Amino acid sequence: MWVSLLREWYDAIKEAQNVERVEEIRIAVFGKKGVLAVEFAKMKSASDEEKSKIAQDLNTHKSALMNELTQRKIVLQTLELEANMRAEAIDVSMYSSRSESGALHPVMETMDRIVEYFSSMNFAVKTGTMVEDDFNNFEALNLPKYHPARDMQDTFYFKDEMLLRTHTSPVQIRTMMSTKPPIRMIAPGAVFRRDYDITHTPMFHQVEGLLVDAQGKVSFANLKFILEDFLKYMFGDVDVRFRPSFFPFTEPSAEVDISCVFCKGKGCRVCSKTGWLEVLGCGIVDPNVFEAVKYENVSGYAFGLGVERFAMLIHHIGDLRSLFEGDIKLLEQFQ
Ligand code: PHE
Repeated sequence: MWVSLLREWYDAIKEAQNVERVEEIRIAVFGKKGVLAVEFAKMKSASDEEKSKIAQDLNTHKSALMNELTQRKIVLQTLELEANMRAEAIDVSMYSSRSESGALHPVMETMDRIVEYFSSMNFAVKTGTMVEDDFNNFEALNLPKYHPARDMQDTFYFKDEMLLRTHTSPVQIRTMMSTKPPIRMIAPGAVFRRDYDITHTPMFHQVEGLLVDAQGKVSFANLKFILEDFLKYMFGDVDVRFRPSFFPFTEPSAEVDISCVFCKGKGCRVCSKTGWLEVLGCGIVDPNVFEAVKYENVSGYAFGLGVERFAMLIHHIGDLRSLFEGDIKLLEQFQ
């Protein structure tokens, strides 16, 4: 009678579908008021002879049931673990079109390429300060006070003749004041002017270049060679031309044009139908500059360019201001 009563618990264990059910069964069979406790209690009324037989049987079933229960629990736990792992699995090979990665801003990327070229030509990279004094930014560059050429670079002033630098040329002065010739340097960095239209922003970036030869043997031909080579490195197969121009700190001075990258020199809206695009200013260092930094019997060339303008021409960007709007949709195109 009691054996068949226990029989159903063997079936219950086999049929249990989860760990909670196994626990319920354990309490129902082995608990204080469980089936086994009840059966053992019933023994009291049996004869001594029966007692030992019943006890033996009950104990056999007790350990057999416990064994079944433990086995079933292990099986169910394993199944549950596997199910959980399947549910939480991450497919590392899955391609997600939404994954977003950062990239260099086109201005920085362009600046890096410029630096890369001149580094390969043995030019050292120098940095000045964005807040400059009047001497470095103007005076030593042959731009005396009240000289009308200062108007071209009207800018933001602090008191005590301090200002946000209008160009990277003061780094020429800083470098010459702190080192002896020869010098081969470039100076990339931010500059500031009071301008705002489709080709100007109040903050933009320039790369300055300066070469000073201690033997005084630098010529315009050296300048022409390196700039032509550099512009072909940046823009590919373009024509380069030098136009006479004026900068207070170089003499002679030139502006350098490349054949229009949009229309290949045929004439379009971007190049105002001229077929040419102006890309940098340069010249032979004016003797007054060397005098200001107390250099004697030297010669040199200098050049300066706007990085945003280069980035616009390389990436065919129409409005310079869009480079500073932080518009991810626009910037993503240049990754
Ligand atoms: N500093 C000049 C500018 O900002 C560029 C330049 C640099 C020209 C060096 C000649 C030599 O316009």
